[in-house]
Amino acid sequence: MSKDEGSLRLEDQGRKLIVAIDGPAGAGKSTIARHLAQHFGLLNLETGAMYRAFALKALRAGLPLNQSAALEKLAAETTLRLEPGEENNCVLLDDEDVTGLIRSQMVTDGASKVSVFPAIRAWMVRMQQELGASGGVVMEGRDIGTVVFPHAEVKIFLDAAPEVRGMRRFDQIVPKTSVQPEEVIRDLRERDLRDRNRADSPLKPAPDSVLLDSTHMTLEETVAAAESIVAAKLHQPAYRS
Ligand code: DC
Repeated sequence: MSKDEGSLRLEDQGRKLIVAIDGPAGAGKSTIARHLAQHFGLLNLETGAMYRAFALKALRAGLPLNQSAALEKLAAETTLRLEPGEENNCVLLDDEDVTGLIRSQMVTDGASKVSVFPAIRAWMVRMQQELGASGGVVMEGRDIGTVVFPHAEVKIFLDAAPEVRGMRRFDQIVPKTSVQPEEVIRDLRERDLRDRNRADSPLKPAPDSVLLDSTHMTLEETVAAAESIVAAKLHQPAYRS
């Protein structure tokens, strides 16, 4: 970080910025959010982990993931906590740390399925608004700039072509014994379709978001572009001490 940028860190200024990062699966939101959080001294909150933890609970309970009333009842008996960490968020489901259990394909699909129901979304949105209420956060998900924090000071919509996102996901899978790139791309397209077409808070860019398409960008280039979007905001008079 340059000296000038360093002097613009939020904690130095007492400003409570909210950075919303939305976009489809595999666009690199978590990586970018983590970099921004470290660079600007913000808390990093991954809202997808909350949907994932709830899906895990529903799966464990053997609930069909298409029954809103049953899911709503389960939600009423559930406590979720998201704790920002150095690298990843820690997710506590009824006080159990499930951070390591929510990345399987089954939970991934489940999260996308439970997230279509308005009552589940309203519950999640309430918790997320409380988490970010004091500001000083990067929050990433699908509806942060549109629903959770429509007044966020910075909104980035991070996108990339489905084939590129699928291949990036495939590269992260270890071991690759039983999975083909085509399957990963197909699953991702299915999830995209559900996330973008649900009636309640579908994934879409907020009108005032900055679109960042990383299809032809390296990770370093995408991080640099995201940093300059936030830095441009911090350089505005309201954010200068
Ligand atoms: O970001 P992720 O892959 O961990 O999200 C998992 C699912 O949760 C995603 O398919 C849709 C849902 N989700 C959502 O609907 N709204 C959010 N703010 C975050 C995630």
